[in-house]
Amino acid sequence: RAEVVINGSSSPAVVDRSNESIKHNIQPASAKWRHNQTLSLRIRKQILKFLDAEKDISVLKGTLKPGDIIHYIFDRDSTMNVSQNLYELLPRTSPLKNKHFRTCAIVGNSGVLLNSGCGREIDTHSFVIRCNLAPVQEYARDVGLKTDLVTMNPSVIQRAFEDLVNATWREKLLQRLHSLNGSILWIPAFMARGGKERVEWVNELILKHRVNVRTAYPSLRLLHAVRGYWLTNKVHIKRPTTGLLMYTLATRFCNQIYLYGFWPFPLDQNQRPVKYHYYDSLKYGYTSQASPHTMPLEFKALKSLHEQGALKLTVGQCD
Ligand code: CTP
Repeated sequence: RAEVVINGSSSPAVVDRSNESIKHNIQPASAKWRHNQTLSLRIRKQILKFLDAEKDISVLKGTLKPGDIIHYIFDRDSTMNVSQNLYELLPRTSPLKNKHFRTCAIVGNSGVLLNSGCGREIDTHSFVIRCNLAPVQEYARDVGLKTDLVTMNPSVIQRAFEDLVNATWREKLLQRLHSLNGSILWIPAFMARGGKERVEWVNELILKHRVNVRTAYPSLRLLHAVRGYWLTNKVHIKRPTTGLLMYTLATRFCNQIYLYGFWPFPLDQNQRPVKYHYYDSLKYGYTSQASPHTMPLEFKALKSLHEQGALKLTVGQCD
């Protein structure tokens, strides 16, 4: 056993590798949690020194033109050309321009959401962010339906839509996109070279079928800026996960931030098995050296912020 201080917090937490989930115990949802407005504002101000969600949430039309060459953020030697379709779908103004919400929900994809009954609570928030086109209809009781922004890593097209190999999969993706019904679809198109074609397929579908979504493509500096903020605060992440990116962005336009479905551990607080994702059979891979994410480390930081009232983590059942 070793003692560590989480994220500069004064309360030490004990690391016990034999039982990952116990040390992350969070008070049940009903326990007293108070929002710390002063701390939230301080965090917003600090983050603004590194990035501005209003700008960094998307590259705008005015800043690129078709044919421009972009170096991928994680594969600097590889480049892509801005296609006509991508150009068409770039927003003219930030989808978050002058936006402020009283409460926001960020819904991670952990299986801890299953049987949580959190759907209704999630849907009461003013702005709901979801990750990686995770399905909602079949899980509405636990995850809710409201979606104001949803992310889509290009890898999702392979993992959840079989790389659109046939008309059935293309139709499935199209239906999912149609169901977004005016919300923001946030596509990290410039991160890694592997996603090039997948982004193009999605762009083409959206244009061809006049899908009602507001597309956004994060700025080239966002990832490094987010990482910079957390590193400065002694959270030594390798590559921020989508969930952490969303929290960091949300501090700009949300007064209170509520996190659901953040639980990167195979056992819950009562030692029951937890699926990695609530909707598929993907296994825990974050412990492997190859994984670019450091989810348990991120979780510790988020837990520390929960304890200080800067955000609220729900990892059990909702009231
Ligand atoms: N998450 C979590 N615990 C899990 C699974 C997910 O806390 N067991 C959170 C992470 O913050 C994650 C977010 O929920 O970023 C969305 O999950 P997922 O779609 O798996 O996101 P990523 O791992 O970031 O996506 P990718 O593997 O494509 O990078």
